[in-house]
Amino acid sequence: MAAPQTVMVQPTPRVRGRVRPPGDKSISHRYALFSAIADGTSTIDGYSTGADCASTIACLRALGASIDEIGRDATGLRLRVTGRGLRGLVPPATVLDAGNSGTTMRLLSGVLAAHPFTTDVTGDDSLRRRPMRRIIVPLERMGARIQSQDGRPPLVITGTAAPQPIDFRTEVPSAQVKSAVLLAGLHADGVTRVTEALQTRDHTERGLAAFGVTVTRDGLTAAIQGGQRPHGAALEVPGDISSAAFWMVAAAALPDSEIAIDGVGLNPTRTGILDVLRRMGAEVSVEAGSPTPAEPIGAVIVRHASLTPTDITPAEVPGVIDELPVLAALATHGGELRVTGAEELRVKESDRISALAEGLRLMGGDIDEQQDGFHVRGRRRLRGGEVNARNDHRLAMAFAIAALGASGPTTIHDAGAAAVSYPEFFSVLESLRA
Ligand code: S3P
Repeated sequence: MAAPQTVMVQPTPRVRGRVRPPGDKSISHRYALFSAIADGTSTIDGYSTGADCASTIACLRALGASIDEIGRDATGLRLRVTGRGLRGLVPPATVLDAGNSGTTMRLLSGVLAAHPFTTDVTGDDSLRRRPMRRIIVPLERMGARIQSQDGRPPLVITGTAAPQPIDFRTEVPSAQVKSAVLLAGLHADGVTRVTEALQTRDHTERGLAAFGVTVTRDGLTAAIQGGQRPHGAALEVPGDISSAAFWMVAAAALPDSEIAIDGVGLNPTRTGILDVLRRMGAEVSVEAGSPTPAEPIGAVIVRHASLTPTDITPAEVPGVIDELPVLAALATHGGELRVTGAEELRVKESDRISALAEGLRLMGGDIDEQQDGFHVRGRRRLRGGEVNARNDHRLAMAFAIAALGASGPTTIHDAGAAAVSYPEFFSVLESLRA
């Protein structure tokens, strides 16, 4: 059940328990999208129950894919998708609404750039503030025409039946941009290459392989030969390490705490959080499980130990980009964290640097804000207070984890945003108090 808009979080001495996080959001979007452009039928187990991934389903249905929810268990939804085959999507009857989801808008744009019709794609207030030039520039080079509001949504995308393959160097390391260009490249005649300054998550490359499409990698360059036809597949979405991160941090933060997380994705482009937790002093153990068709998976156990100060360097940022708010929350529990090279945080679902600094300060935290990062010192205990998550799911959950160590309660406004990636977050939190 989705959380109410305003939630009060009481402190707790410790947390203990076992959790299976919801299906990975990044991977869910991709499997739905690849199934929709594949020949034949796919099944997806463990599909995220979050609102963002529901936006992807709604958009793909509007483009002609048939998507049925055929079951649901603790890991997420079971979907059956009948794809339309490469170049087979049909013009939608209405404007597509990507909701709060940047991944939906950017990845879908890559596919729509290669379909010869016009589609309007919009989103909520937050998404309509986010930068889209990063995908507009390469997709227009490939032959699409994309109108925007000064580089922001809504987008009006007119695709081409014959996209040109390109060699593209991304301006900012972004898996969404890389994926959009590779997906347009799948429809092109020739080889499309994307080079990044730093490696980003590789779920598109791995996911496409499960659908029979080869993406090759040479250092920081990913390449795709156009015209390969994805075929239907049986997929399993791992638990989301970015959602699991909240429980890992809660266990690391509070004395005498231990949380085990089952079925969590262990893709090396996403496990930066485990390295940072270890550096901050937590005891972290990992047990590999049997891998899913495209991604490694396993169990992670985190135990509290006293916290030590650490820095996160610019080179590490893409590997922990979504975990930075909750790592800031960890530092408020007696640690210290300095992050640089994370300017991207300013163009996420909110300006995560200023909204995080504002919220933690209102709770009594000691945090300096820089253009490209922040510095949190956890020398004094938070007192709690009243904060606004600015309709940003990761901030709502990060403030809740900070609140667990405060001397008094914390009221979080816009807490309902957690449903974007983790609708059960606040009820799981209550079950872990010990
Ligand atoms: C995502 C990539 C990252 C990440 C986002 C999901 C993806 O964004 O922050 O939550 O699924 O590809 P960028 O590609 O903008 O860095």
